[in-house]
Amino acid sequence: MQTHEIRRRFLDHFVRAGHTEVPSASLILADPNLLFVNAGMVQFVPFFLGQQTPPWDLATSVQKCVRTGDIENVGITTRHNTFFQMAGNFSFGQYFKRGAIEHAWSLLTDSVEDGGYGFDPERLWATVYYDDDEAAQIWRETGIPDERLQRRGMADNYWSMGIPGPCGPSSEIYYDRGPEFGVDGGPEADEDRYLEIWNLVFMQNERGEGISKDDFEILGPLPRQNIDTGLGIERVAFLLQGVDNVYETDLLRPIIERAEQVTGRTYGVSAEDDVRFRVIADHARTGAMLIADGVNPGNDGRGYVLRRLLRRIVRSARLLGAEQPVMGTFMKDVSELMAPSYPELATDFARIETVAVGEETAFLKTLSTGSTLFENTADAVRAEGGTTIPGSEAFTLHDTYGFPIDLTLEMAAEAGLAVDEDGFRSLMAEQRKRAKDDANARKHAHADLTIYKELLDRGATEFTGFDELTSEANVLALIAEGVRVPVATEGHDVEVILDRSPLYAESGGQIADRGTITASGLRLRVNDVQKIAKQLWVHKATVEQGQITEGDVVLAQADPAWRSGATQGHSGTHMVHAALRQVLGPNAVQAGSLNKPGYLRFDFNWQGQLSEQQRADIEAVSNDAVGADFPVNTFVTDLPKAKQMGAMALFGENYGDEVRVVEIGGRFSMELCGGTHVRHSSQIGPITVLGESSVGSGVRRVEAFVGLDSYRYLAKERALLAGVASSLKVPSEEVPGRVEQLVERLKVAEKELERTKMAAVLSSASSFVDQAERFGSVLLVAVAAPEGVAAGDLRTLATDIKGRFGTDPAVVVLLGTVEGKVPFVVAVNKGAQELGFRAGELVSSFGPSIEGRGGGKPEMAQGAGSQPSGIPQGLAAVRARVAELAG
Ligand code: ALA
Repeated sequence: MQTHEIRRRFLDHFVRAGHTEVPSASLILADPNLLFVNAGMVQFVPFFLGQQTPPWDLATSVQKCVRTGDIENVGITTRHNTFFQMAGNFSFGQYFKRGAIEHAWSLLTDSVEDGGYGFDPERLWATVYYDDDEAAQIWRETGIPDERLQRRGMADNYWSMGIPGPCGPSSEIYYDRGPEFGVDGGPEADEDRYLEIWNLVFMQNERGEGISKDDFEILGPLPRQNIDTGLGIERVAFLLQGVDNVYETDLLRPIIERAEQVTGRTYGVSAEDDVRFRVIADHARTGAMLIADGVNPGNDGRGYVLRRLLRRIVRSARLLGAEQPVMGTFMKDVSELMAPSYPELATDFARIETVAVGEETAFLKTLSTGSTLFENTADAVRAEGGTTIPGSEAFTLHDTYGFPIDLTLEMAAEAGLAVDEDGFRSLMAEQRKRAKDDANARKHAHADLTIYKELLDRGATEFTGFDELTSEANVLALIAEGVRVPVATEGHDVEVILDRSPLYAESGGQIADRGTITASGLRLRVNDVQKIAKQLWVHKATVEQGQITEGDVVLAQADPAWRSGATQGHSGTHMVHAALRQVLGPNAVQAGSLNKPGYLRFDFNWQGQLSEQQRADIEAVSNDAVGADFPVNTFVTDLPKAKQMGAMALFGENYGDEVRVVEIGGRFSMELCGGTHVRHSSQIGPITVLGESSVGSGVRRVEAFVGLDSYRYLAKERALLAGVASSLKVPSEEVPGRVEQLVERLKVAEKELERTKMAAVLSSASSFVDQAERFGSVLLVAVAAPEGVAAGDLRTLATDIKGRFGTDPAVVVLLGTVEGKVPFVVAVNKGAQELGFRAGELVSSFGPSIEGRGGGKPEMAQGAGSQPSGIPQGLAAVRARVAELAG
């Protein structure tokens, strides 16, 4: 049975039983504590906790999940996928243990003709939490006898997301693959032979912080008893398709086949190669799914996980012998295989491919830089007579240059060197410890959020700021240094929680409003506003006058100038975004933004620099749209409708969520956005795109001024130009021509100067001739040339002097000085050569004095020394030598 069919049967089974089919949420949900969505229930957490009322009592979904904790096991075990699909049924306060068990049993054991999976009931086992007699009894009645029922402790049979949230005892269903796959004794004995396929969680408690799977605080019961289940679609496929492992199922096996084609190796021959094939298949799919949901490769968090996955693909392919880039091909396969269930893989393919291939290109570069660095290190080790690459070098290669240790090991082996692996590992351990301390610090910050929780339970803050800038509000709570306080007095900083507020809290790239909170005799300055769980407004403020008390009725006011500036910035961002896509095409996808008064910054995925023309076009399209005075519409709808209208979706939206659409000029710009916006595009004012730069691999940034800041920036530029024009004494429009002319004239003048200098040098030739000394029948000119005469000119000068002696035997020796060096020339004419003088030989007379070397032919020798102070001594030496030779 094909995977898409397994998925469909699951949903149909539960829809028939009265459940509403809910689409998968994005892999990226807002919770900063959760790297990726890792279970079907994540999007329903607020329903389990009783924070929100679910729109349905029963739901079913197939959720995209990513778990990378077991990444090292991928390809090695039969069952570890980093991406998998979790099918689930959910009951919000309706059926409980019996319903969950009976529904699961019928889907698993009903025949294929009846819409089930047709598993042999005799091969199914179940586990229950050690004291859960109720679940055990239901299993006995449903069809699993005591011999195939096992009780396990908290680590196995008590489920939570690993972080505070809903939790409860669980019951897991296993399939016995048979004695050829392992020992008897049920899941307790062997989890490879007995493969877990479905987890039924009896969601009934709320957990707090904890240190491990089986050590956390249970805070108390949930408002209702719920059901959350998770069936591993890939594992069911693995069993129903009669293959050996999850990587050989119908949606992954074709990628292995593709890898065989591009590498020339065959799957199933070597165990080592097979792991690499499976890594490619698994990671290619996970990579594509993550990029589809908006993750970009980066150096921390989600981006780092993606980077690691993509690099492991490249690396595995190369180890299998691939020499060409491989990523594009694999992405194409994944897209075709997965699109029937996840159409975004087809519609967003161009972007997915660009991002993945970009990362491959960057990594291949890293590999080649790393190889050079490795060679240098290896040479240095050998030069010192060593045989081991130090751990610190291996660590630097890994940490700074992203060069994997296994590659270092392999190349070292090829070079006949060892690697200090212990040293490397201890440095890695230190680094991991630092990362862990960091993560703990972050967790701690999360723990502090619990103080807001009880406030959240009393309801959300009402945001009034779309319609008004001043609102009356009640002070719900005051928090100072992490604890609730009843009052805050003059001069103190305090966090103020209000039941309503017109102040915009930082989100979607738009910075928080500044403003005031006042009442008679009371005034606070608001410095920042943050949202907790998207719902609770926390105003970080300083008491400037009077004292504020919990329960006060106050007036909260957003600073109008600040707000209008930030609003122009935010609407400006939408214009620039739309313009970018017009100019560069739909692959220029938003990667981040910042809007503050008068300024906007927009990051987007793009390989390579923008040309000046593209920058200018983006600016022109944006400003035309401003000038068109487009009306700005905002409305609230649901995500599928918004997408259907063509709105650019932000990542991390929940399908169930209501979304706000901001539309400027109809189809010109339509985005999901919770920010504040102008009412007509002309209110944005002029947009000046300052330039663009790179902010990491494959991400570019444009910055722009808007509104009055744009004007101020341009005014400054104009003043600069006016200054230049007045210095040049021409009107502004003639400045470029004038500057060009000046540059040209400067060049001419420099050449002229050069010529004059040379003429001066040559005119000194006659005075040198006058200084000639006679030794026997030979005339010698041995002088220090004027400072600054370069080697080439020195030669011209020497030739000129030599020429002036006609047929009289003559020797010319010129020692110059240029920037601490002593260029020299020796010229010997025919007459002197006949007397036995050789230019090259004469160099040895003065060479040592100026620490110089050089040589040449009998008629001409040149070179340079490095000791100007030795010039007089050198000249004396050459005289002595000439005198000696002249006899
Ligand atoms: N939420 C449960 C799990 O992830 C079903 O295993």
